[in-house]
Amino acid sequence: MSAETADLSPLFQPLFVHGKTLRNRIVMPPMVQLRPLTSPEGVAWYARHAQGGVGLVIVEATGVDRFGEEFTAADLEPLVSAVHEHGALIAIQLFPGTRGQGFAPAAMSTDDIDTLVTRYRRAAEQCAEAGFDGVEPHGAHGYLLNRFFSPIQNTRSDAYGGSLENRMRLALRIVAAVRPICADTMLLLYRHTPVGEGYGIDESLVLTEALVNAGVDILDISPASVEQAGDRAAPFTRFGVPVVAVNELDESSRALEVLNKHRADLVAIGRGLIADPDWPIKMLKGQEDAIVRCIRCDVKCFGNLRKGIPIECTQWEDA
Ligand SMILES: Cc1cc2nc3c(=O)[nH]c(=O)nc-3n(C[C@H](O)[C@H](O)[C@H](O)COP(=O)(O)O)c2cc1C
Ligand code: SF4
Repeated sequence: MSAETADLSPLFQPLFVHGKTLRNRIVMPPMVQLRPLTSPEGVAWYARHAQGGVGLVIVEATGVDRFGEEFTAADLEPLVSAVHEHGALIAIQLFPGTRGQGFAPAAMSTDDIDTLVTRYRRAAEQCAEAGFDGVEPHGAHGYLLNRFFSPIQNTRSDAYGGSLENRMRLALRIVAAVRPICADTMLLLYRHTPVGEGYGIDESLVLTEALVNAGVDILDISPASVEQAGDRAAPFTRFGVPVVAVNELDESSRALEVLNKHRADLVAIGRGLIADPDWPIKMLKGQEDAIVRCIRCDVKCFGNLRKGIPIECTQWEDA
């Protein structure tokens, strides 16, 4: 099917989930961009993407230890309002944080684990107060929660290591702590990598079923690397909650295939939206040819990240 003749309407169907309406199926996935979330530059970054027409903005991985210390709910309100003003919903990805947590499961005491769960709950409380539409514990990409799930990374011999049930325990505790805070005002998302170190789809399906039973509203299924580029989301659609697919879906044919074959309910477009925040609106207006394309150079997105400077794009002039 050529871009000229393709029916793009599946991208623009609203999605209703747990009392919220996403205006379309296009998600901005979490992407660390290195402008402070409370600064005019950080607010403008996300507002610009909301203005471009995405249905849901997921703000970058943000350490739970920063809430209430580095910023309060009131400090985050301008970010939330700016995105809402442009008609998008806004969620935020919650990262285990760096201070005092360590990054190896075996290095954490049970007190550290309890503290982490408490921090997730407190961060979610601040997010609710700031007016966010959702929170997303970061369980993907080999970071701490994902390491607890990996039988290779997780060498613990207590209730948090060993069996699959034990390796799922931390994620489920966090979800149980955050779910009541979300109540009916915030969606609870969870980002998971479907195939990782020492585990495959079958174990991931057990985890995601438990997550859904514990109250997760949206599953964000993210392969860990570009080597796994492609939609791996399809098996996760069986649980009756919307699923997000991601990885190089900025070609409309690929995004449409995902939606039309119901391999996922939502498509996240990462670097494609850094290259052109107006990707959704240009698609909607039939101006696909005018979209500034990501060329996968990784120079000013991942490249800037590695240098510790705000991300931009080699292709987009006004980033
Ligand atoms: C600059 C940059 C920062 C990222 N930061 C995060 C992050 O904070 N949390 C996360 O889960 N993924 C992060 N990712 C991964 C993206 O969310 C997405 O999964 C990935 O870019 C693949 O999608 P794409 O091919 O559409 O770019 C980041 C990606 C980029 C390019
Ligand atoms: S810097 Fe390169 S890889 Fe990154 S978004 Fe722009 S074109 Fe894509």
